[in-house]
This record gives sequence, structure tokens and C-alpha cells, in this order.
Amino acid sequence: MEAPFFFFLLLLLVSSSPSTARLSSYGVNTEVQALIEIKNLLEDPHGVLKSWDQNSVDPCSWALITCSPDSLVTTLEAPGQHLSGLLAPSIGDLTNLETVLLQNNNISGPIPAEIGKLANLKRLDLSSNQFRGEIPSSVGHLESLQYLRLNNNTLSGPIPSASANLSHLVFLDLSYNNLSGPIPASLARRYNVVGNPLICEQDCYRMAPMAMFH
Ligand SMILES: *[C@@H]1O[C@H](CO)[C@@H](O)[C@H](O)[C@H]1NC(C)=O
Ligand SMILES: *[C@@H]1O[C@H](CO)[C@@H](O)[C@H](O)[C@H]1NC(C)=O
Ligand SMILES: *[C@@H]1O[C@H](CO)[C@@H](O)[C@H](O)[C@H]1NC(C)=O
Ligand SMILES: *[C@@H]1O[C@H](CO)[C@@H](O)[C@H](O)[C@H]1NC(C)=O
Repeated sequence: MEAPFFFFLLLLLVSSSPSTARLSSYGVNTEVQALIEIKNLLEDPHGVLKSWDQNSVDPCSWALITCSPDSLVTTLEAPGQHLSGLLAPSIGDLTNLETVLLQNNNISGPIPAEIGKLANLKRLDLSSNQFRGEIPSSVGHLESLQYLRLNNNTLSGPIPSASANLSHLVFLDLSYNNLSGPIPASLARRYNVVGNPLICEQDCYRMAPMAMFH
């Protein structure tokens, strides 16, 4: 192909994509890049991510992805898709995400701290996976968060104290992990921490087998 024609094509592609979609300095959509990194760290035995093509102009036609009218990724919804492997830190670059549903997979490793960059995130469900390690304290900075499920993983350590600031949180399920220590006051109107033998409610003086659902 003649070079000038190639550049004309490129120009056409770039200018026909909505102006708000994020392009890196190389003309590659940064949300495409972030999602390809996520795909690369996941094991996907059933090929549910095969439409995730790194040469796409934007990811809006991909399976399991929903975009806003201006072509920004707002939803990543892949429950029960037999995914394993790791969740890439690049999820933190998808800053328009409002919903992330990855429950009922077999994803392991840590919850990336970068998830705390998702300022618009309202619903996060990572339940019934094999996430381990601590809940990153950055989760306490997700100010839009309304619905949080991390139950049925192998998370350990304390519930981040910063999560006391999640003022929009109306549903929280941390049950069946290995969390320890107190539940920050005013954390959520509804929460479930059953199945964490080392959790105590607000004050840690009472010794009791904890089985709570408020
Ligand atoms: C997770 O992995 C285990 C063992 O590797 C397997 O038995 C189970 O079916 C997997 N679960 C899902 C939801 O893929
Ligand atoms: C979570 O784990 C508990 C205990 O193993 C089990 O009874 C429950 O069904 C699990 N819940 C989900 C949603 O997988
Ligand atoms: C909660 O937010 C306030 C105001 O932004 C801040 O000063 C405080 O340190 C936060 N608390 C925690 C535990 O992060
Ligand atoms: C749970 O956490 C405690 C320490 O907080 C640790 O000793 C124990 O091995 C953990 N159990 C599992 C199943 O990870």
C-alpha cells in the first residue's frame, strides 16, 4: 500500500472514532491496551475473550464489554466464564468502569491495588474466585462504590480502615475469607462477614463465633 494512502486510511479511522475515546500517542486506544493486558494474564479455556482483538479501534464490540455512548468502557461483565490466571493491574486504566462482575471464576493472585483508581466504580463483584492476600487499602477510596462482593475467596488481613469512608456503599459481602480484626464502623448498612473466624465487630473484646448478617 502506498504510504500516503495508508496515512489517509489511518486518519479516517482515527477521525471517525468518537473524539472522547482515549488514544495514546501512537493512535492506539488505551482502553484496548488495558483490556489486552487483562486478557493476556487470564487463562481462558473456553475462548470467551477471543473477540478481544488488539487491533480494534475501540473495545466496544467485544464480548463481555459495554461502552458508554461516547465509546468508553463502562462495564466488564464476565461471571462464570471459567477464567483463571491473574487480574492485571491495567484494570486501573479503565477509569470509566462503573461495573466489574467477575464472580464465579477461578481467578487467583492478589486484587490489584490499581482497582482503587476506578473513581466511577459502583458495582464490584469478585466473589467465588481464588483471590488471596489483603484487600488493597485503595478499595477504601472508591467513593462511588455501592455494591461490593468479595466473598468466597482466600483474602486475609484486616478490612481496610479507609473503607469506613465508602459513604454510598449499601451492600457488602466479605463472607468466607480469612479476614481478621475489626469491621470499621459505619461501613455499610448491610454486610456479611460470616465465615471469617478472625473477624470481630467494631470492638474486639467479645470472643464469639461470628455469624452476622445485618
Ligand atoms: C476452579 O478450579 C477447580 C480446580 O482447578 C475446578 O474443579 C473448578 O471447577 C473450577 N471452577 C470454575 C468455576 O471454573
Ligand atoms: C461460599 O462458601 C460457603 C462455605 O464453603 C458455601 O457454603 C457457599 O455456598 C459459598 N457461596 C457462594 C456464593 O459460592
Ligand atoms: C476519610 O476521608 C477523610 C476526608 O476525605 C479523610 O480525612 C480520612 O483520612 C479518611 N479516612 C480514612 C480512614 O481513610
Ligand atoms: C488465615 O490467616 C491466619 C493469620 O491471619 C493464618 O495463620 C492462617 O493460615 C490463614 N488460613 C488460611 C486458610 O489461609
